Amino acid sequence: TGGQVMAVTVEELQKHNTLDDCWLSIRGKVYNVTQYLHFHPGGVDEMMRGAGSDATDLFNEIHRYVNYESMLKKCFVGPLVIE
Ligand code: HEM
Repeated sequence: TGGQVMAVTVEELQKHNTLDDCWLSIRGKVYNVTQYLHFHPGGVDEMMRGAGSDATDLFNEIHRYVNYESMLKKCFVGPLVIE
């Protein structure tokens, strides 16, 4: 059972930029990656570079082939609002 989905503004996204409350956006979708951080093969610090922001470019530069949509299914917060 999925949680509630909510559209996320950039302003809201930016608030979640810490180790114990970390959201990031990839290709228009926002994910709460707080739990995943510690399983990231590239390490916590690498992933924190994208914390609280649109990390699409960063993600694409390093591993555009990674199937994050399936990996982060349970971490989906909602679509990023384009302002
Ligand atoms: C590996 C960076 C987000 C999944 C890595 C590596 C780096 C990196 C530097 C190591 C590559 C290597 O040693 O060759 C980042 C950054 C991210 C990010 C800067 C966002 C700001 C994500 C996300 C996922 C993910 C969202 C999936 C949910 C993986 C996987 C690997 C990996 C599966 C190992 C496979 C591979 O290296 O090809 N990442 N990552 N990463 N990352 Fe990320």
